[in-house]
Amino acid sequence: PERPILTPSFPRRPVQKAELVRLSQTLLHVPALHWVVVEDAAAPSALVGGVLAASGVSFTHLSAETPPDLRGGPGAPSWLFPRGAEQRNRALRWLRDTRGAHEPGVVYFADDDNTYSLRLFEEMRSTRGVSVWPVGLVGGCAWSGRWSRGGVVGFHTGWRPERPFPLDMAGFAVALRLLLAHPRARFDPRAERGFLESSFLGGLVTPGQLEPRADNCTQVLVWHTRTEKPKLRQEEQLQRQGRGSDPDIEV
Ligand code: UGA
Ligand code: MN
Repeated sequence: PERPILTPSFPRRPVQKAELVRLSQTLLHVPALHWVVVEDAAAPSALVGGVLAASGVSFTHLSAETPPDLRGGPGAPSWLFPRGAEQRNRALRWLRDTRGAHEPGVVYFADDDNTYSLRLFEEMRSTRGVSVWPVGLVGGCAWSGRWSRGGVVGFHTGWRPERPFPLDMAGFAVALRLLLAHPRARFDPRAERGFLESSFLGGLVTPGQLEPRADNCTQVLVWHTRTEKPKLRQEEQLQRQGRGSDPDIEV
């Protein structure tokens, strides 16, 4: 069965290419994968197209721009609106447009900056509805996710524990059939901070239906790493002196 991996990609960061090259080289090791990359832009860019074409991974390259009223004005804090919602919804629409209702497969939302163990992709293979596992280094905790002890089930999280699904985007996968059976399930781009995952999962399952993976959610196989914003002060200074980097060299 096919394994669509859906990744939003944000063009206005200098690390965009580096993030995608790194992720592509993880995905190269995953069998039967199809990578759907959706740029937060009016049109797909040549830069991302080049990375995808050179990657050796089966891919689809799309774009969906976050509308200005859902981005917050200049200087607005980055957490004011959820990131990647528009792009993941575009990828969901593509899946619904191109895949037959009973096609088997498992869908995973892989952000460009996280760190993924190859074992994670094995664990999600057997997803029947929505499967879950812990995510390392997220929400101010060492890890966050579902736990169970002696038949009692709960969620370990340091952030808004009252959320219906206190899970990070990297902490679950969805059976393609379940997704196609719920054509209205989508990410709410106006969801309150931290509620983006719940806005989507609430249209698919109840918390009690989540299927634990990774040794009953005791193994951390994905880490919510974040890439440091590079400082380009010297570059700006060199440009002012007319000695900037060669613009023909793609970074
Ligand atoms: C956390 C979660 O891990 C994300 O899955 C969730 O989308 C996000 O919070 C949120 O709710 O806003 P975080 O590390 O803070 O993630 O977010 P980023 O990694 O910066 O962005 C998530 C994805 O969206 C990335 O693949 C990024 O390339 C993309 N993105 C980011 C856009 O498409 N547009 C943007 O303006 C910013
Ligand atoms: Mn991230």
